[in-house]
Amino acid sequence: ASYDMGGHDTYMHKEISEQPDAVDRVLRGRIDDRFNTVHLGGLNLDPREARGIRRVKILGCGTSYHAGLIGAGLIESLARIPADAEPASEFRYRNPVVDPDTLYIAVSQSGETYDVLAAVQELKRKGGRVLGVVNVVGSAIAREADGGTYVHAGPEVCVVSTKCFTNTVVAFALIALHLGRIRDLSVAEGRRIIEGLRKLPGQISEILETEGEIKKLAEQYADAKSMMFIGRVRGYPVALEASLKLKEISYIHAEAYPASELKHGPLALIEPALPTVAIVPDDELLEKNRAAMEEIKARSGRILAVAHREQEKADHTIVVPKNEDELDPILMGIPLQLLAYHTALALGRDIDKPRNLAKSVTVE
Ligand code: AGP
Repeated sequence: ASYDMGGHDTYMHKEISEQPDAVDRVLRGRIDDRFNTVHLGGLNLDPREARGIRRVKILGCGTSYHAGLIGAGLIESLARIPADAEPASEFRYRNPVVDPDTLYIAVSQSGETYDVLAAVQELKRKGGRVLGVVNVVGSAIAREADGGTYVHAGPEVCVVSTKCFTNTVVAFALIALHLGRIRDLSVAEGRRIIEGLRKLPGQISEILETEGEIKKLAEQYADAKSMMFIGRVRGYPVALEASLKLKEISYIHAEAYPASELKHGPLALIEPALPTVAIVPDDELLEKNRAAMEEIKARSGRILAVAHREQEKADHTIVVPKNEDELDPILMGIPLQLLAYHTALALGRDIDKPRNLAKSVTVE
């Protein structure tokens, strides 16, 4: 399919820019201000069933897996149900124990990724209950699942996913809030998250306005042969996704580590030629993240921080607006999409068609 680029040079740029509207769409019509909850009829879960869920297992590939990691964190913190995410193909090949009290969630932009579809089919064959968090309406995974929710990102043409990642994470926040309010999340806490969700489109627009600064930073770091991305807990999947984005379109090698793991090995790599992007939200882990930056500085590593205020330990800081702690990862991912974009542009890459990659991988 080909869609109008609407004045943008690439689909990637167009899709990054569409995020305020896309997030508005995934929220629309779903928030219940009377009970401070969310309506997601497509989940086909009645409250009694929802209370019986003992675990949540999220499956996806690539960027959708990363969105699932953030989703698992949201479900654990808001609904207090143990949750984790795993690459769909790994799950399928380790002959998983399929448990009737586990809610399985398959995540996919295209809804056609073979490894995810095969995992869904394997789960259903073993009697598992599977929901889909999918962008393309009527796609194979959406049809196979027992229910689910569409993320309403709109058509995503660029091979690398941006707006769909953001919308998928917002969809997980809605699912987490929905499950949380059926279980133990209070009215006041429900209100707090709803207010945070409503701020997202405006805050994303604010971040997009800083593109000029991010472009300058990208040009300064584009000479790196390799880059390190670090974060902790909620920030770690943001680091994983940002490093994937950079690899896919700039071909710069990148790896993501939990900041706490640096001292267990990767610190040996740190030197001026290996810059680090650090995810540093103003939350309970701020001091820990600062300590990690200090360790990097002591080895003369360059640091670009994404934070809620200027970080004196970093060489440069991209300041993003603060939301509720649980929703911060959504915003912290956005400037790093632009960083990958402008790095690839500075290196003259074919951004919409990176080498060796296809938009959806429908074979094993
Ligand atoms: C995203 O930038 C990637 N090109 C890729 O990792 C993608 O997310 C993955 O192949 C899964 O695709 P899906 O969401 O359509 O299932």
